[in-house]
Amino acid sequence: MIIGLLLLATGIIIFCIYMPGKSELINKMDTYVWHFPDTISLKSTPEAKLISYGRELIVNTAVYLGPRGTVKQISNGMNCGNCHLEAGTRLNGNCFAMVASTYPKFRNRSGKLESIEYRVNDCMERSLNGKKLDDHSKEMQAIVAYIKWLGTDVPKSVLLQGMGTPEIPVLQRAASIDIGKHVYFNNCSRCHGTNGLGILTPDSTSYIFPPLWGPHSYNVSAGIFMLSKNAGFVKYNMPYSSSQQVPALTDAEAWDVAAYINSQERPGKIFKEDWPNITTKPFDYPFGPYADSFSAQQHKYGPYKIIKKGKQN
Ligand code: HEC
Ligand code: HEC
Repeated sequence: MIIGLLLLATGIIIFCIYMPGKSELINKMDTYVWHFPDTISLKSTPEAKLISYGRELIVNTAVYLGPRGTVKQISNGMNCGNCHLEAGTRLNGNCFAMVASTYPKFRNRSGKLESIEYRVNDCMERSLNGKKLDDHSKEMQAIVAYIKWLGTDVPKSVLLQGMGTPEIPVLQRAASIDIGKHVYFNNCSRCHGTNGLGILTPDSTSYIFPPLWGPHSYNVSAGIFMLSKNAGFVKYNMPYSSSQQVPALTDAEAWDVAAYINSQERPGKIFKEDWPNITTKPFDYPFGPYADSFSAQQHKYGPYKIIKKGKQN
């Protein structure tokens, strides 16, 4: 906690003295590591119960909102925490710490300024292949209260290390589904199953090991259906272990296994209103129309270098 505050103070001082540009900021803040907010102080906040319920909804989403959910049956049986590891607190594991300081945020996918509620519903409809939560529902308020609480001490315009999905360098070649299949059977199938459908709890309420494809997995409009997001997440977090360690896979293995996973059958929900400005589509967005002449196949699996040339995202 004290070290956290010292780091925070140092960060702010450096920022105020130099007022650096964005790229400089990234370098300067390389050592600025986020620390989990003080849980002792949580107990004295009036919102403590709501925040704890929010955390619970992230970790055990299916118990409340899955096909056998006790509150509503509006999602696929996965948990938010399956991708936002350790309740959204794990660095390089889709950590939530910068959400409070960066939203409302303009996103190219919607072409809109998005609130936290809007962004949460995005993952509900895509990653959990489900239905939206009402903004005023207790569940949405709890999730937002928890996410805001995680970002309590994070000042605006400071980039923290390890937020979001990690990026890994692109390959010279296209990602290979065939090699990916071998990577999968050597490293992943023992938990996610040889059929990729995951392993349910004995009462079938939720998953011990979540599905990677099939009818109960994320749909084709989820962020992780883009190979870069899938490979980045997998490289830093899989095979899963509760103690964060050195990545087990090479970059190539991560791209190839991501290609294998995302070549399998999954729910095909498409949102026609996505990417209103097609020039802002990410290089690995797998559905046209495109502003360039590369095929949907090449956008999905690569080679990406030539696509990325002259493109920022
Ligand atoms: C299948 C994986 C997956 C699941 C399940 C999932 N998400 Fe996400 N979520 C992602 C990915 C990938 C991103 C994008 C991260 C990035 O852009 O770097 C994301 C982004 C977000 C963001 C924005 C983060 C930021 O820093 O901008 C929020 C908020 C969020 N998710 C909330 C949720 C909630 C709440 C749930 C459960 C209802 C959920 N997610 C379930 C994969 C998932
Ligand atoms: C030791 C068991 C284990 C192994 C091996 C493993 N995973 Fe996972 N994986 C998990 C668990 C558990 C989660 C959910 C984490 C959580 O909820 O905290 C997960 C989550 C995921 C997710 C996000 C959620 C989803 O269902 O889409 C992806 C993608 C994933 N794993 C891919 C892989 C890949 C690829 C490999 C092999 C390189 C792999 N995993 C190996 C246990 C494992």
